[in-house]
Amino acid sequence: MYDFAPDERLTKPELYRELLSAADALTAGEPDTVANMANVAALLGEYLPGCNWAGFYRMVGRELVLGPFTGRPACIRIALGKGVCGTAAASGETQLVEDVHAFPGHIACDAASRSELVVPVLRDGAVVAVIDLDSPEIAHFTAEDRAGIEALAALLSDRI
Ligand code: SME
Repeated sequence: MYDFAPDERLTKPELYRELLSAADALTAGEPDTVANMANVAALLGEYLPGCNWAGFYRMVGRELVLGPFTGRPACIRIALGKGVCGTAAASGETQLVEDVHAFPGHIACDAASRSELVVPVLRDGAVVAVIDLDSPEIAHFTAEDRAGIEALAALLSDRI
C-alpha cells in the first residue's frame, strides 16, 4: 500500500517538495511509462486541491494523445498548436492561463474548467508529453504551481 496523503497545513512549496519526493519514490527504477504517468496523475489528484482535471498528454507522431489522468473523460487527440496543451507542446513553453475563456482556441473538455496550467516535459530538447492541470476557479494556479510542476516535469523527463 502507498499512503502519500499530504498534510493540509503545508505551504505550496512544501506541498510540491512532498509531491516531488513521492513521484520520485514511485517512478525511480520503473521503466514502464504508463505505470509512471498513472501513479503521478494519481498523486496530482491527491496533492493538489482545487483541480478538476490533472494528467498527461503524450506526443505521438505529430500530435498529442491523451495519457493517464484523474478527472472527467477528455478529448483524445490535440493537434500541435491547438488549445492550451497544443500551444505548450508546439512552443516547448509553460502556459499559465488565468481565464481559459480568454485563451484563443482553448479546447473545453470539461465545461467547469476556468483556469489551466500546462507544462511541457522535455527530453533531449524535444517535447515528449505535457502535464495538464485544470481548475474550476479563475486564476487558481500561481507562479508556485508553475515552479512545482516544472520541477516535476524535469524529474519525469526520462521516466515517462
Ligand atoms: N483545455 C485543454 C484540453 C485538454 S483538457 O483541459 C483535459 C486545451 O485547451 O488544450
